[in-house]
Amino acid sequence: MRILLTGGSGFIGSHIALLLLERGFDVLILDSFINSSYNVIYRIENYLDNKKINSKLETVVGDIRNKKLLNNIFSDSIKEEKPIDAVIHLAGLKSVSDSLINPLHYWDVNVLGTLNLLLTMKEFECYSLIFSSSATIYGLSDTVPMAEDHKISPINPYGQTKVAIENMFHDLYNSNINFWKICSLRYFNPVGAHPSGLIGEDPIGNPNNLFPFLTQVAIGRQKLLKVFGDNWDTKDGSGIRDYIHIVDLAEGHLACIDYLNSKDACLEFINLGSGKGYSVFQIIRQFELSTGCQIPFSIQSRRDGDVAECYADISKARKLLGWTPLKSLDQICIDGWNWQMKNPNGYS
Ligand SMILES: NC(=O)c1ccc[n+]([C@@H]2O[C@H](COP(=O)([O-])OP(=O)(O)OC[C@H]3O[C@@H](n4cnc5c(N)ncnc54)[C@H](O)[C@@H]3O)[C@@H](O)[C@H]2O)c1
Repeated sequence: MRILLTGGSGFIGSHIALLLLERGFDVLILDSFINSSYNVIYRIENYLDNKKINSKLETVVGDIRNKKLLNNIFSDSIKEEKPIDAVIHLAGLKSVSDSLINPLHYWDVNVLGTLNLLLTMKEFECYSLIFSSSATIYGLSDTVPMAEDHKISPINPYGQTKVAIENMFHDLYNSNINFWKICSLRYFNPVGAHPSGLIGEDPIGNPNNLFPFLTQVAIGRQKLLKVFGDNWDTKDGSGIRDYIHIVDLAEGHLACIDYLNSKDACLEFINLGSGKGYSVFQIIRQFELSTGCQIPFSIQSRRDGDVAECYADISKARKLLGWTPLKSLDQICIDGWNWQMKNPNGYS
């Protein structure tokens, strides 16, 4: 099979690309590199060479909002007799705080970009799609674990764009029920890195999320970790979240391709998380234990829009995809630290 992977040089996309190529898929990455480095592509190519993997990786530098470019990609693939069998769509903007400042930019890239992609897929009769949705769409709620039928109520423009896209899928599926096969995967918090240490998370500027911040404290790029609230109604007072190893998350996409291939038509919304909740203090303790690093931290007041506890009910993914996350929190810490040690300044 040949897969079009939009956003394939980003944190999640690079791990999916590597896994697809290792499993014999050909991959065409479309990425604007607005939030990623071309070094990702070189590293994946080197990895394939060293392991003597023959799957084909092609890369197009461009924007998903460029209709002409999308059209060329699909028409070339037909002319060259290597049609695109399915699309994994990850290209988009993902910062909650940035989306509050630049909401229209988020609607433009995330929603219009996806609309362009769907229009082109329809034109070229490519009907299989896996989409990167987010647990952010569930909004504020302490009901845990969160299943897919949990109330949808995003509290920021980023989350709104993901809901708008999921609504687009509903309309599309209802109109063309015989054709479309769509899985919208709602990610919780992907963390860690590929065990090789070749690819990992490399946020531009100060990391917004706990785990990359923590590894940057460990390597000395940040002074201390800020813990937002130690008075939540949880076992140790710190907030509880669902952290999933990035390789487990990538495996979920491979399982999803099998699922789509087994269907004539479908539209599914599926949580991908570890299904476990870990507190911030638990993460710090485990990281120190797994790596031998010391993590200095300071307690700050709670942030607006945070909740005490949020983790996924992943029974639908287990049942439908036959997928289950395998990697422990210990492995997340080891692989995340391995990546940070080998790449103290990320890809630069
Ligand atoms: N990382 C998370 O915690 C998380 C959680 C839930 C959902 N998601 C979603 O998963 C997807 C991938 O996330 P990620 O963490 O890998 O982010 P990332 O920023 O590392 O990867 C996104 C990639 O898309 C590219 N891109 C951005 N705008 C583009 C455009 N207009 N045209 C083409 N390429 C463009 C970027 O250059 C980047 O390589 C995003 O859609 C994000 O919303 C991420």
